[in-house]
Amino acid sequence: METETLEIRQVAPTFAAEVHGLDTSRALPPRDVEALVGALDRYGVVILPKVFLTPEQQIAISEQLGELENSDEGSPSFKKLRENMKYVDSRVSEISNIAQGDTLLEETDIRRLFTFANQLWHSDSTFRPIRARYTTLSAVRLPGQGGDTEFADVASAYEALSDEDKTEIDGLLGVHSPTVVMEFMGATRPDGGGFVSEYGTQLRPIVDVHPGSGRKFLSVASHCSHIDGLPLPEGRSLLTYLREQATLPQFRYRHRWSLGDFVIWDNRSTLHRACRFKERTQGRQLVRTCIKDL
Ligand code: OGA
Ligand code: MN
Repeated sequence: METETLEIRQVAPTFAAEVHGLDTSRALPPRDVEALVGALDRYGVVILPKVFLTPEQQIAISEQLGELENSDEGSPSFKKLRENMKYVDSRVSEISNIAQGDTLLEETDIRRLFTFANQLWHSDSTFRPIRARYTTLSAVRLPGQGGDTEFADVASAYEALSDEDKTEIDGLLGVHSPTVVMEFMGATRPDGGGFVSEYGTQLRPIVDVHPGSGRKFLSVASHCSHIDGLPLPEGRSLLTYLREQATLPQFRYRHRWSLGDFVIWDNRSTLHRACRFKERTQGRQLVRTCIKDL
């Protein structure tokens, strides 16, 4: 007889949980997929410690959560980049500062830019026409120190806002584009010109509703450049304030990676960012999939 074998252990005050007891060696039975989606609705971040998935197993589990994002879609430059990556399947990408041949990336390698841009609070692919519902990461190689990933619970953060704040932001739309982040990072094209978005801009509600939990959440990723219909400085000032409220220490969970950890997060109810490490001298490599928010 099948018995309930999942053990869920919350690891931060308001969200994030370790899940034990999933057999990840093969496709999950429907009731485990349901339990996993339920845990993501409730906890936003789900951690399977030290499960050491192969990229194939990671793809298989990711596909049970929905249709995978193809990192090349709408981005000729990403397609070109991926030619240098270890994983040539466009359903996986990697977060890595390691080049082919196992050396660290050259100083001028554009992929170093992602390492830095990921250190800004964000939610994946909000600047694409279809944002990412979930992202998964598997830790393959870790630096001796640092390189954690921090998450923020943007549903609890919304609920903690004052009634005045909630009224002020009700109905506002954010304008999302990678350009604002690339300009902040000082990124330029190889010819020295300014960064140009391959995706145009996307309008997304600043206060959104999570269909799984019914809770409202703050959608204020760093790629949210400004507020539709407000002067740029006014919108940016409001976004800076909201991003601060969204990421207050009491709404955070910091994941200190161990090799083999597999982490899945819901990009709607959370923000995340990479933490610094000695990327000039130490290697860090995680395998990544994104599930579309269709
Ligand atoms: C990502 C990401 C953070 C990290 O994979 O989308 O932001 O710590 N990663 O590498
Ligand atoms: Mn990310």
